[in-house]
Amino acid sequence: MILNLLKKDLDAVSCPALVAFSKPGAGKDKPSRITHAELAKGLAESISEGSITGKFLECVLFREKNFGPFRHVVVVGLGADSEFTHESARQVAAQAFDAATAANAKEVAIHFDGLAGKKNAAVMARAMAEGLTLASYKFDELKSGKKDGKKDSELTIHLVSAFAGDAAVKKAFNEGLILGQCTNFSRRLGDMPANMMTPTILANSAKDAAEGTGVKVTIWDGARIAKERMGGLLGVSLGSSQDPRFIIMEYKGAAASKKPVVFVGKGLTFDSGGISIKPSAGMEEMKYDMCGGANVIGTLIAIAKLKLKVNVVGLIAATENMPGPSANKPGDVCKARNGKTFEVNNTDAEGRLILADALSYASELEPQIIADAATLTGAIIMALGNTHTGYFTRNEALNKKIQLASSQSGEWLWRMPLTDFNSKDMKGTFADLSNTSHTKGAGSATAAAFLEQFVGEGIPWAHFDIAGTAWAVGNRLNYCPKKGASGAILRTFVELARAYA
Ligand code: BES
Ligand code: MN
Ligand code: ZN
Repeated sequence: MILNLLKKDLDAVSCPALVAFSKPGAGKDKPSRITHAELAKGLAESISEGSITGKFLECVLFREKNFGPFRHVVVVGLGADSEFTHESARQVAAQAFDAATAANAKEVAIHFDGLAGKKNAAVMARAMAEGLTLASYKFDELKSGKKDGKKDSELTIHLVSAFAGDAAVKKAFNEGLILGQCTNFSRRLGDMPANMMTPTILANSAKDAAEGTGVKVTIWDGARIAKERMGGLLGVSLGSSQDPRFIIMEYKGAAASKKPVVFVGKGLTFDSGGISIKPSAGMEEMKYDMCGGANVIGTLIAIAKLKLKVNVVGLIAATENMPGPSANKPGDVCKARNGKTFEVNNTDAEGRLILADALSYASELEPQIIADAATLTGAIIMALGNTHTGYFTRNEALNKKIQLASSQSGEWLWRMPLTDFNSKDMKGTFADLSNTSHTKGAGSATAAAFLEQFVGEGIPWAHFDIAGTAWAVGNRLNYCPKKGASGAILRTFVELARAYA
């Protein structure tokens, strides 16, 4: 897909298709409105008949309407002004993209000024660029006959606006493009099957993506991981023939003296459960267990491309979790990088073990904050389904920044409780800690309490459990694939980093 921001009159655009917008009438029984006066005349009948109501995401396609230079016209509903937000704009953009695809148009003009005014043009331009780019994501490169699978949709879209010349609008539009593209990059890493996205390939993908962005990538292999005393990551990797990787990504956008913001990601490229093996139904979805890592990689690339004035480090612990002759066995005891020991009472609770080392390492960097993303627990899906990412933090100042970041990204989050009672549940019998809880329930909170043991004293830290939101969220979000990876939390993490710039 090619996306342009065009400063032109709509009449001066020659293009086979137009996307315009409708709104519900103000007040009861008032007819709906089309945001383009001339077009409104041409569609008067459809309005009076009630086939255009202006309802949010309503989509009416007029083939061969021949309105001015436009053969086809699509009218997308915006809903009431009072409820319209930048998140609405992302969804309207995705609806417009789908309609343009359905109309088989190769080139489409979007009447942007029908959706935004001078005041909110920048915010909405960013949201539209994001929504359109996110909606254009396709993962078909592994299907035969799609030799150019890597090539995006061939659609060209023009956002036509009188404000397109404003520097702030142009900048915001470009930011939206970067955020969309980086999210799509991370989605692809998630959608690749585990045989084609091993820890080594994941690390190399981070390195390749970082080229030319100013992000420095350092990759540790299994031998180095052992030497660095990362007993959690090493232990989980032992059942697999794939060598683990620890990926360090560094971006310096501020003075060297400025403490970094550190993002940590779970890069479990396949989670079979290990010796505590998972049931086979649905196990194929465990290729997505590296989405936290993939989305942290995309976060770093996005921050670098946006040139944010902040120092950021991304740490991704990458391994497979497999049963094998050398695999962790239930009851085994390992030692993490910070010296704490833990019993591996269930080898399927492996995410917390590899994050233990990554969080220990993160704490050594004297960070401003640490935020981690992980598909950590099935329990978070029980609690929140696939609508909200659940997050845990005990730091109120950080919590405020997270809330702000989420309101800017449009991603839905829900704060979950983390207390000393959860920590008590994770005490070990034969070692400092157990990787499973002694009590029933609160599986996501006890996992968070385990992670907390590896965060240095006094460091503001938040844990984001994206097990419910990392893939298959398209039933709620039309700019996300129905089945594939979503890129969850990436855009919020970028906003969070911005808050520390
Ligand atoms: N990767 C899984 C969590 C998961 C489950 C993510 C389903 C997405 C969908 C994690 O490693 C895991 O297996 N967690 C266990 C922990 C338990 C053994 C304490 C779980 O949630 O069942
Ligand atoms: Mn597991
Ligand atoms: Zn896992």
